Amino acid sequence: MSMPEITEEMIFECFAAARKSEDMHQTASSFVDVEEYENAIMYPEFARWANKAGHPELATLFRKVAGEEKLHAVWLRELYDDIGTPERGADTRRAIEALETIRANCDELIEMNPAGVIEKALMVAIRVEEREYLDIYPRFRDQALENKDQATAEVYQRVIDSEHQHAEWFQGALEHYRASQLQAV
Ligand SMILES: [Fe+2]
Ligand SMILES: [Fe+2]
Repeated sequence: MSMPEITEEMIFECFAAARKSEDMHQTASSFVDVEEYENAIMYPEFARWANKAGHPELATLFRKVAGEEKLHAVWLRELYDDIGTPERGADTRRAIEALETIRANCDELIEMNPAGVIEKALMVAIRVEEREYLDIYPRFRDQALENKDQATAEVYQRVIDSEHQHAEWFQGALEHYRASQLQAV
C-alpha cells in the first residue's frame, strides 16, 4: 500500500499573501485580513499538527508566532480604525480551502508520517515569512513612504523586523528538529 503524502506544495497553498492595491487603505485591509487569518486559523492548525506529531515545543512556537501575527494586525488597526472586519480576499479564501482539504485527512497522514509533515511545515513557514519580510511588506512600506505617511511606514517596518525574526525562529527550530531526527535513527 502506498503511503499518502502531504506535499510541500499542499502546505504552501495554506498560506495567503497580502495584496498591494493602488489605494493604501485597501492595501491595509488586505494586510489585516492575511495577518488575522494567520493568527486565528493557519498557525493554530500547524500547532495542532505539531502536538499530534508529538512535538509540543514546536506547537508552542507556532502558537507564539500566531500571537505575534495578531499583534501585527492590531498595530495597523490603530492607524486605520475604520477597517472593521475586512472582507476575505481571494487569496485568504483559497488558503482556507487548501487548509480544509488537508485537514480532512491530515490526522491519519500525520500518524503515518509525522516527521515528514512537520519538517515540510517548518520549511514552508520559513519560505513564507521570508517572502513577507523581503518582498511583500517592504513594498507596502515604500508605498506609505511615497504617500508621505510616516506612521504607516513605521508600522510596516516593525512588521518586517518581526517577520524576519519569525523566519529565524523557524530556521532554528528546523535545524534543531533535523538534528533530533538524526539522533533518533
Ligand atoms: Fe505577520
Ligand atoms: Fe510572521
